[in-house]
Amino acid sequence: MSVNDPITPEPLLQLGLGFMASKTLLSAVELGVFTVLAGGGRDRASLAAEVGLHTRSSGDFLDALVSLGVLTRDADGVYANTPAADLFLDRAKPSYVGGILEMANARLFGFWSNLTDALRTGAQQNEVARSGAPFFVTLSQDPVAWRNFLNGMNGVSTPLAGALAADFDWTGRRHVIDLGGALGAVPAAVLRANPDITGAVFELPPVQPVFEEFVAAHGLTGRLAFHGGDFFSDPLPEADVYVMGQILHDWNLEQRLVLLQKAYDALPEGGTLIVYDAMIDDERRHNTYGLMLSLNMLIDTEGGSEYTVADATGWLRTVGFAKVEARHLTGGYSAVYATK
Ligand SMILES: C[S@@+](CC[C@H](N)C(=O)[O-])C[C@H]1O[C@@H](n2cnc3c(N)ncnc32)[C@H](O)[C@@H]1O
Repeated sequence: MSVNDPITPEPLLQLGLGFMASKTLLSAVELGVFTVLAGGGRDRASLAAEVGLHTRSSGDFLDALVSLGVLTRDADGVYANTPAADLFLDRAKPSYVGGILEMANARLFGFWSNLTDALRTGAQQNEVARSGAPFFVTLSQDPVAWRNFLNGMNGVSTPLAGALAADFDWTGRRHVIDLGGALGAVPAAVLRANPDITGAVFELPPVQPVFEEFVAAHGLTGRLAFHGGDFFSDPLPEADVYVMGQILHDWNLEQRLVLLQKAYDALPEGGTLIVYDAMIDDERRHNTYGLMLSLNMLIDTEGGSEYTVADATGWLRTVGFAKVEARHLTGGYSAVYATK
């Protein structure tokens, strides 16, 4: 932009009304538009009938998706997925990342309408407001919400798992345990790329049934194990690599230091803890996604937030790690590799 460019309100309006575009995409994922179109292009009437659109809405909704760049429409009026939508938003493909969008649609979109209350009070604005029980207990007691949450986590961590499997030097490592690893996207990617490594997820027991389905679907039964437990109160099973992905952002500083110290104490000499999160850049001005997610943690947790790369490296040195290396992963996500 040059100094001679007129100042216009459009960018502000676009930003302020951005929820319309967001919800259009979230509803398209919910309705399975991309999954249906993965089977081949459809005209408006047939697509509308398949996904259940009213005649009043179908034209505007489908053309809005064209305008947003996630569908195409040819001269004959046939709608099709863009290559990215086909790869990442078709539920039938292993590359599907729509789990996080389904979770955002079912939970976060509504909770974010209470952002102003969260900003004023510092109080959580999710299911916990009704249940009064801790977040993970509340969620795990609702089978639909629990599965939706775990699939959502899997949607976020699948691309990060690929980045970690490729970026970290796994040479000579024997056993990786993902602490709070949900369905095991990270160890699954590591095991696929390194046939000599075994792995496990250490998770709350109610994760196990959904985890077993995921492991079977990925052909990793027998190689990727499940340890049920609570990482605050139970001993950590032995491994030479631990992963804590999107764990520290759930908890307050005191709890984070407890978890990091526990991982350090349980690792052998030369063992590594990999921490990843949507870490905020140290200047706290560039990683918009990390800053937005930090506001999400305000809404969704009791004491959590995102944190900077410098915060993470500082905590890891404080608990005793000798070698601490920060790496950008993909999108708004960074990792820190901390070796004992
Ligand atoms: C935000 S999710 C992150 C999941 C996964 N690591 C990822 O990056 O997608 C946090 C996970 O921590 C697990 N968790 C929460 N409290 C736990 C505890 N006390 N012990 C073990 N796991 C826990 C939850 O079940 C949930 O799957």
